[in-house]
Amino acid sequence: MSTWSSGYNTDLGYTFGYYREISPEWLDFVALSKLVTPPAGDWRYLELGCGQGYGLLLLAALNPEHDFFGIDFNPVHISHARNLATAAGLTNVRFEEADFTALATDWPADWGQFDYITAHGIYSWLQPEVCAAIVQLMNHASRAGALVYLSYNALPAWFSSHPIQHLMRLWQTTESLESVKAIETGIRRLEKLTEAQTGMTRMLPGMKAMLDKVAKHDRAYLVQEYLHDNWHPRWFDQVVEEVKPAKLTYVGTASMGDLFLRSFMPQKFKDIVQDYTDPIVQEVMIDTLVNQSFRRDVFSRGATPMWTAQRQQAMLQQSFVLLNRPPADDELKFKTSIGELKGKAEIYNLFYDQLATGPKTAQELMQVPASQPLGLGDMMQALSFMLNEGHIGFYRPPSDRGPALALNRAIAIATANGAPYRFAIASKLGHVVTVSDVDLMLLTATFDQPQGSATELGTALVERLLALGKGLSQQGKPLTKREDLLPYATQLAETFLQKTLPQWREYGVCE
Ligand SMILES: C[S@@+](CC[C@H](N)C(=O)[O-])C[C@H]1O[C@@H](n2cnc3c(N)ncnc32)[C@H](O)[C@@H]1O
Repeated sequence: MSTWSSGYNTDLGYTFGYYREISPEWLDFVALSKLVTPPAGDWRYLELGCGQGYGLLLLAALNPEHDFFGIDFNPVHISHARNLATAAGLTNVRFEEADFTALATDWPADWGQFDYITAHGIYSWLQPEVCAAIVQLMNHASRAGALVYLSYNALPAWFSSHPIQHLMRLWQTTESLESVKAIETGIRRLEKLTEAQTGMTRMLPGMKAMLDKVAKHDRAYLVQEYLHDNWHPRWFDQVVEEVKPAKLTYVGTASMGDLFLRSFMPQKFKDIVQDYTDPIVQEVMIDTLVNQSFRRDVFSRGATPMWTAQRQQAMLQQSFVLLNRPPADDELKFKTSIGELKGKAEIYNLFYDQLATGPKTAQELMQVPASQPLGLGDMMQALSFMLNEGHIGFYRPPSDRGPALALNRAIAIATANGAPYRFAIASKLGHVVTVSDVDLMLLTATFDQPQGSATELGTALVERLLALGKGLSQQGKPLTKREDLLPYATQLAETFLQKTLPQWREYGVCE
């Protein structure tokens, strides 16, 4: 554990993630649904604890006319983020290495104020004093009307998993275990405890299911989740109290499947919630009903009201694009905290049919069930389900696609050099999409050989893989030798040329 980290584990660099919930359009949708005015005009965006900065770079490239700013105290993260920004030539994003505690009392005036502030995956793992510093910092850094996103491990669900964190960290510190070893050892020992059906594991039956999930997770994530000195899941009402000094009030959840949970939860849940008048207590009661484990809360500094007619106008103009249409013969199911909800296929398929012909506004979609056009509330709920499933996305292509294309190129080149990146920008949709390392390597091969055949690109892929000491897996069978790799790599290049590359061109992942 480093001396500068206030108990925060810095043994491994963090993962290179992208979280759609912190994108401005996602936060705007939450605000609109709750009649709160989203930021407009010359807005600025700040991410606290930006990690490797990968997600922030994608957002910056998608919004080249706005300022983006990332803060993290880990120099490994900041230098990675700056290097990738430089490689892509992005000029609207800045990364600073700084500690929240220092910034709480000394917020540099020239960093200015922001209209969006996000802190994803941080708040539960810090000392209470550092959390208080984050709130102070938010107070200095937010403009009136700003939307602030804070995610955290929530109670009550984490009660049953509390021993996993405590014991893993105890074993690590007392036995001086290196972090990944501590995770492996911890999983083994905890599994032994559940198998032995100890008093504790019998009292906490949820622990076994959590442990099964833990065993499958990425090790870098697990180190960040479980091996900090601090680990404080919270009740929603505690967080609401904690952020009050920054003048923040609750707007709604960025967990999109639950945005309208109050309207579709079972009547017996509604009856329980109705026993309470305070909306914060009601929210806590909902967390107990669904056994909430993770909250993505959106707050506002000043919650500027949006009048009903204004909201209607703003909402109707929003455009959406089809990303992954669910198979037509599948039952339509939408994930929410109360389980999967069935969607009326006859209605949703009409939306998907319309969207299959190109992006559509909410107004256009509302007219689709021609015999019975939907009201705005029903339409927003339907959109929230489809967005949450990733069936559709917000359609907001940047006015200048240059930065997004440049970032994608830098991402592809870095991946061909071994970087573990898995997201790129569909610049014609204004959206982030997942991509595979093999496809990114094949894309870089086309930079050198624009007219390259499948055999030529396949050969280039094999050379890349061998240089990185990597292989391929064909139906679970590992391939590592050149002669074994070549036929399969050629097959992958064929698919890339016929399917992936044309689709990437259509979406604007590349030119
Ligand atoms: C779990 S990571 C989340 C990173 C990113 N938000 C994401 O979701 O991918 C938390 C980040 O907070 C940073 N951090 C922790 N304590 C901090 C502090 N006191 N000041 C600044 N950054 C801090 C860590 O370096 C780490 O990158």
